[in-house]
Order: sequence, then C-alpha cells, then structure tokens
Amino acid sequence: MNEQIRISNVSKIYGGRASKTVALDNISLSIAPQSFTVITGRSGSGKTTLLNTIGGLEPPTLGEITVNGQNPYQLDDNRQSRFRREQIGYIFQSFELLPELTVYENICVPSYLSRRSLDKVYLKKITEQLGLTDILEKYPAELSGGQQQLTAAARALSTSPGIILADEPTGNLDRQSGEELFDLLCFSCRLFGQTLIFATHALEIARLADRIITLEDGRVLSDISGGAYDTP
Ligand SMILES: Nc1ncnc2c1ncn2[C@@H]1O[C@H](COP(=O)(O)OP(=O)(O)O)[C@@H](O)[C@H]1O
Ligand SMILES: [Mg+2]
Repeated sequence: MNEQIRISNVSKIYGGRASKTVALDNISLSIAPQSFTVITGRSGSGKTTLLNTIGGLEPPTLGEITVNGQNPYQLDDNRQSRFRREQIGYIFQSFELLPELTVYENICVPSYLSRRSLDKVYLKKITEQLGLTDILEKYPAELSGGQQQLTAAARALSTSPGIILADEPTGNLDRQSGEELFDLLCFSCRLFGQTLIFATHALEIARLADRIITLEDGRVLSDISGGAYDTP
C-alpha cells in the first residue's frame, strides 16, 4: 500500500501504576496519501490521542509513527516544530486561538511562523466560504464557539499543509456551518491533494470518507474502506 503515515504497534499509556490509562493499545495502521479517513468511536476511545500522536504532539509510550518516512519524535525541537508547522494542519477540539490576536491575525499565524508569503486570494476564498469575512477584525473573546471553531479551521488550512488533522471540528457548529466547513475541507483536500483525518461522531460525514476506523478502548474495532459503510 502506498502510505504516507505509518503507525506501528503504538501504545499510549497515561499515569503511573495507581491510575494507569491505556489510551492507545497496540495500534498498527497505514494511511495512504490524499485519502480521507474518519476516526470514530465513543468518547474516551482514543481518537484525540491518536490524532495527537500522528501530529507530533504526543510521543507514543511504545511503538513508532512515521509521517512521510520520518519519525517526528526523533527530530530535535526545532525540526519537530517545523514538522508540525509545515506538514500538519491541526484543527483542535479546543480551538487554541491566541486571544490577543484578531481572527485574521490568528489565521495568518502559521504562514508568519514559517516565513511564507500569504496566498491572499486563497485566504479570501476560505474565509468567505466559512462565513468569516465580517468578523476578521474581531478578537476570539467576541466570538461564538462556532465562529472560533471556523477560525481555527481557516488557520489550519491557511498554508495548505499536506496533512489535515481535525478533532471533532463540527461538534460546536450548527448544521449549516458544519456542512460548510466539511465541504471546504473536502474541497481543499481534493484541490491540494491533502490527506484528511477527521475524528467525529457524525455518521453523515463518515459516509463520505474513503475509510472509517472505529476505535474502542484504544484499539481498532473495525477498519472499513471503499464506501461500503453500513451505518446503524
Ligand atoms: N493527558 C491525559 N492524561 C491522562 N489520561 C488521558 C489524557 N488524555 C487522554 N487520557 C485518557 O485516555 C483515554 C482516551 O482519551 P481521548 O484520546 O481523549 O479519547 P476521545 O478523543 O476518543 O474522547 C481516555 O480514557 C482519557 O481519559
Ligand atoms: Mg477527543
């Protein structure tokens, strides 16, 4: 299989002996470039932990991750942050916007940090599609949860990175905004040949994926490819 991300026997164990949590339990997976994978499963099943380990944010306790042939956890700190900045667009469940910057400035942060020039035409397109045009000068504290989520999504897309990791990004949105965000993610992935990994409970979205991986207690309960999904 043509693979971009390889997860080999990865376990993530939190806590010590007294309160041990096995968040990921010996997971092995390969993810193909330019594919759209949905990660689903109950709350606490390990979705966020899996995205964090792929994104270079949580080193696995055991096992190995490679992204484009590189293990991000073997890089020094500078290269590790460059890896996150240049290869990964992360839409966090908790937004992680910078409160002292406006919406527009927040969206520009990744380009600024990687000293890349902004593609203003593209930025205009994504901010329009996400309905952010009228709030670009506002600060995060002045926004609804949904608007903060859309800002975080625009930021993740702003440099068109090769891999987009989205952690329940439609959870805070009404149905229409959720669909707009989802359409934009799909559009962006097809346009730029990006790989999209999307954690969600929303089964309408899962049906559009190339692959659905269901986690349970940190293990892969099922892994179905090809659109032959039987949603309950
Ligand atoms: N930083 C942490 N410290 C301790 N336990 C954690 C931490 N992060 C996640 N967990 C635990 O790991 C398990 C998986 O969590 P998570 O990956 O957030 O699941 P999901 O995103 O599917 O809800 C849960 O039992 C959670 O409580
Ligand atoms: Mg989660």
